[in-house]
Amino acid sequence: MRRLAAVSILLALSAACSKAPVAPVPTPKAFGTALVSVSGDKQAAGVGAALDQPLVMQVNDAKGAPVAGALVRFIGTGGITMQPDQGLTGPDGQLATNVTLGGISGRYQIAAITADSGGKPVEIRIDEIALGYQAMLGEQINQIHCVRCHDSESTPERVSNHDNLEAPPHGFTEGAILNPLSDANLAAIIAGGGVALHKSAAMPPYGDTLTKAEIEALVAYLRSVSDPAYRPQGVFYAGN
Ligand code: HEC
Repeated sequence: MRRLAAVSILLALSAACSKAPVAPVPTPKAFGTALVSVSGDKQAAGVGAALDQPLVMQVNDAKGAPVAGALVRFIGTGGITMQPDQGLTGPDGQLATNVTLGGISGRYQIAAITADSGGKPVEIRIDEIALGYQAMLGEQINQIHCVRCHDSESTPERVSNHDNLEAPPHGFTEGAILNPLSDANLAAIIAGGGVALHKSAAMPPYGDTLTKAEIEALVAYLRSVSDPAYRPQGVFYAGN
């Protein structure tokens, strides 16, 4: 009796653990020589979240014209998933995939791969950003206080004030400007306003509006989204 129970538990477990059947690789109907990212790269969202926009890739031929029916595969590590993870490009030469981030904050890389008619792989890499709790808090504060001046794009809900400013503020993804500033300098300009770093007084001081923890959350957010990535000194980075 006991043995039977053990066997049936094992069977139930192995059924639960077995993976979903792997979809067969579609047969390509055409081949290109180049892969370009159309949209959806460098998006930021909370850990484990689905990204708002799909990632769209396009296969082109040697003349730059889109190729329909080319096979594109997506490979990611660290728990990031793409749905679908492979497919043939449509009539516009494009394939879209929905991306869900892994459960650890940081940057995730996706490799998009096609092959030319000789079977030679053509690959490009795309980054997506998973924000941890502190950076997510910073992104919410950014939406309330900062984005209207620091983002030059307007949206249906918000008109950008960016172009009215004499010293145009930078987008928070602009690593070339923000990466050289220390955490202390970032906190100083947010708390004390532009004058704290001898910059334009049009950058308001937030020291009385935001708590120290909220300013730290903003700094964490700025560091998470910067492009190129922010790399603190004295930390060893493997590989890339
Ligand atoms: C009313 C418009 C306005 C708002 C709102 C605003 N800023 Fe600024 N900010 C500026 C301007 C203008 C500068 C550029 C100053 C210069 O270059 O002289 C600036 C500069 C900065 C800089 C230095 C890098 C750069 O872009 O030149 C940082 C960092 C910064 N702001 C962070 C913030 C944060 C964080 C918030 C929200 C808490 C915020 N700002 C809200 C106008 C604004």
